Amino acid sequence: MRKLVIALGSVIALTSTTGFAADEGAAMGLLRKSKCLNCHAVETKKDGPAYREVATKYRGKAEAEDKLIKHITVPNKVKIDGREEPHQMVKSKDPDEIKNLVSWILSL
Ligand code: HEC
Repeated sequence: MRKLVIALGSVIALTSTTGFAADEGAAMGLLRKSKCLNCHAVETKKDGPAYREVATKYRGKAEAEDKLIKHITVPNKVKIDGREEPHQMVKSKDPDEIKNLVSWILSL
C-alpha cells in the first residue's frame, strides 16, 4: 500500500511538471534584458534560429530542457556568417527565471 502511495505521488509530480505553464511576459522580459532578440525572434530566423524552430527541433526530447539551459548559461560558441562568436549568456542567476524562459521556448 505504501509503495502505491509513493508511485501515485510521482505520477502527480510528473503531470504537474509537464503541465507547467510558462510565464510569457517574464520570458520575453528576460530575452529583452539579455539582448537575445538581436539574433532571435519567435517566428522568423535572424542570425540565430527562430524560437519556434528550436521548439520543433526539440519536441519530445527528454534532454531538451537541460541542454538549452546549458546553452544559455555555460559559455559556448556559435557560427554566424562562418565566423565563430561567443553565444550570448542569459542575464539572470535565478534558476527559476531561466527555467521559465526555456520552458516557454520549448512550448512554442
Ligand atoms: C549574436 C547573436 C546571438 C545572440 C545575441 C543570441 N543568440 Fe542564441 N543562437 C545564435 C545562433 C547563431 C544559434 C545557432 C547555433 C547552432 O545551431 O549551432 C543560436 C542558438 C540558440 C538556441 C538553440 C540551441 C540549440 O541547441 O538548438 C537557443 C535556445 C538560443 N540560441 C537562445 C538564446 C538566448 C536565450 C539568448 C539571450 C540570452 C541568445 N540565444 C542570444 C545567435 C545568438
